[in-house]
Amino acid sequence: MKETNPRGPFLWGVATSAFQLEGSPHADWTSWDEILSTKPTVTNHYELYREDLALLKNLGVNAYRFSLEWSRIQPREGVWDEGAVAHYQEIIDILRRDNIEPMVTLHHFTHPLWFIKKYPWHEDASVEHFLRYVEKILSALRGVRYWITFNEPYVLVLAGYFEGCTPPALKNVPLGVKALKNILTAHAAAYDIIHAGCPDAQVSVAHNMAALAPWKRWNPLDKLLARVAKYFYNHSLLDAFLTGSLRIKFPFKEEMVIPVPIKGKLDFFGVNYYTRIHMRFNPFKNMGVEMRHLDIDGRGLTDMGWEIHPRGLEKVLRYASGLNVPLIITENGIATRDSQKKIAFMKEHLDAVERCREQGMDIRGYFYWSLIDNYEWLQGLDARFGLYRVDFDTLRRIPTNAAAYYSYLIKNRKF
Ligand code: FCB
Repeated sequence: MKETNPRGPFLWGVATSAFQLEGSPHADWTSWDEILSTKPTVTNHYELYREDLALLKNLGVNAYRFSLEWSRIQPREGVWDEGAVAHYQEIIDILRRDNIEPMVTLHHFTHPLWFIKKYPWHEDASVEHFLRYVEKILSALRGVRYWITFNEPYVLVLAGYFEGCTPPALKNVPLGVKALKNILTAHAAAYDIIHAGCPDAQVSVAHNMAALAPWKRWNPLDKLLARVAKYFYNHSLLDAFLTGSLRIKFPFKEEMVIPVPIKGKLDFFGVNYYTRIHMRFNPFKNMGVEMRHLDIDGRGLTDMGWEIHPRGLEKVLRYASGLNVPLIITENGIATRDSQKKIAFMKEHLDAVERCREQGMDIRGYFYWSLIDNYEWLQGLDARFGLYRVDFDTLRRIPTNAAAYYSYLIKNRKF
């Protein structure tokens, strides 16, 4: 059929990440005994990938976002596993055969253990080691147009350096700021490497954005905190893409202005959106910050304890549209065992996307998180995000009603 939309079809997709589905014997997340006492159990997608890719066809999606597990590709410093590279190429080939657009994430939270021990992101050498991996991928893989360099760089840094609950498990704000600078520097160089190898590439990060509100609307400190958090968490990265400067301002501290070479290094912008967070100033908490999810609209919380707040998606998309590049919702989803709740979540968030498009925002795709239930970073296997349920004893994939509903939407919503 002749394509009538000059921008190409709306990307209807689902998103996953390698480690959450496949695990890896060489990843920091597997072997970081200092902080992670239980070993992740995963869905064994590394063996069952053909079966899982067939689920994409059943759903009728035309796009699939997945990540490469760097620690499988480079298990030791200087050692490349060509078998792992070939494995990911086979996935891309299957997607191409099935007319499904691959969107590849180069870095989705995990690292090879050697890297995080020797060159954690606050060390400047981290950048060059990451770029060797990017060069390897660009010289080896064929058939990819959409690339995400980093999934949620702010979440990576907040968890690894502020909260200290993920590798490298530090509670050190200055080192966290250095790490963020290095990660964004790595993004800029990766952007150039990808374009050199693949001139029509579309490259972005996937930025986690949340609706942020004061806990008590009448409390000036809560309001101040919500404003500061909103700027830092949602907006400072966007401003850095526009200006080349990252401005970081914490309450009662002097503003930091850090040059980062990312101005304009963006072909579209990936937004991950899940929830609204209420902020409260509490001097007894780390940096005076306490965060809560409140069920204000009566939709109930998800199994992650997150508020369901579709209006927030509109807000963050409106803000992101100031970047003047096309927007793609690279993740949006709900953890619940209740299919009706999952269906309502999708419908309401896609209604929000539709309202944004009607207002003229350039939104080119939506990726539901996630295709199948998988390992959730700090919650393990209880967070059921999948359109397909996974029985973790037998590893069977079982369609939920939400899978059928998503197929129905894809066929009937004319975006
Ligand atoms: C996002 C992560 C993704 C998944 C969802 C639930 O922040 O990018 O890996 O864990 O949350």
